[in-house]
Amino acid sequence: MQVINSVKEMKQVRQKLTGTVGFVPTMGFLHEGHLTLVRRAKRKNDVAVVSIFVNPTQFGPGEDLQQYPRDTERDLALLEKEGVDIVFMPTPNDMYPDSYNTWVETSGITKRLEGKKRPGHFRGVTTIVNKLLNIVLPHKAYFGQKDAQQLRVIQKMVADLNMHVRIVTVTTVREKDGLAMSSRNIYLNDEERKAALVLYKVLSVAEELYMRGEHDAARIKVKMTGLINKESLAKIDYISIANSDTLEELTYIDHPALISMAVKIGTTRLIDNRTIG
Ligand code: PAF
Repeated sequence: MQVINSVKEMKQVRQKLTGTVGFVPTMGFLHEGHLTLVRRAKRKNDVAVVSIFVNPTQFGPGEDLQQYPRDTERDLALLEKEGVDIVFMPTPNDMYPDSYNTWVETSGITKRLEGKKRPGHFRGVTTIVNKLLNIVLPHKAYFGQKDAQQLRVIQKMVADLNMHVRIVTVTTVREKDGLAMSSRNIYLNDEERKAALVLYKVLSVAEELYMRGEHDAARIKVKMTGLINKESLAKIDYISIANSDTLEELTYIDHPALISMAVKIGTTRLIDNRTIG
């Protein structure tokens, strides 16, 4: 496994690669969710490239950039075991030198949900993903359904900018009890870890209500809100039932809908989602 720390070297190495390249961009502190993307990239391509870069431009002021968990040694051991060919780990200065002045921004869909709560977040994501795709030039790039809005924003960017990459979606990987895997789960203490299950539980309740014939989004949201509020460590940031493609809020669920939410468990902000219909 080759570990590359500079943009220049990554571009040189890329020029010599032959066959299909599958790429998994990550911010490190890898878990089974990432490794599922990595395995898919490895199985479906001749060369598997993984990036590890905690992208400062997608964190807002007061967010967890400084505390964001990092364990490069462990990450590299895991990737080596998966048979990854190249790990690209650029420095912040190489990606964003002092003279840096170009941003990629997708409008519309980024103004809702996470974008509304975290202004500037998606501008950081689309900019870094664009840069990484330009450097690695993969045939396919792999993203998890857990970050449902991020996935849609990236798909929109790739379509709008006619980019030469296929975005591949992989379903959310969960702990045995249903909690969606996330690098941020490490912030939870034992009590919070138990409380965090409320996200999965309310998504299941919402789906069940829908399956039993409830198509009124407001009524489903009321039920979800009530259940989350019963959990004393949980505080709702938002709950959304939206058109699965456009992410516009629905009043009546008559097409595939994305039920998504952000909930704070103690000080840790968690997101999860489910597609219904
Ligand atoms: O999903 C993530 O981990 C990040 O947003 C990504 C896509 C690696 C960009 O920094």
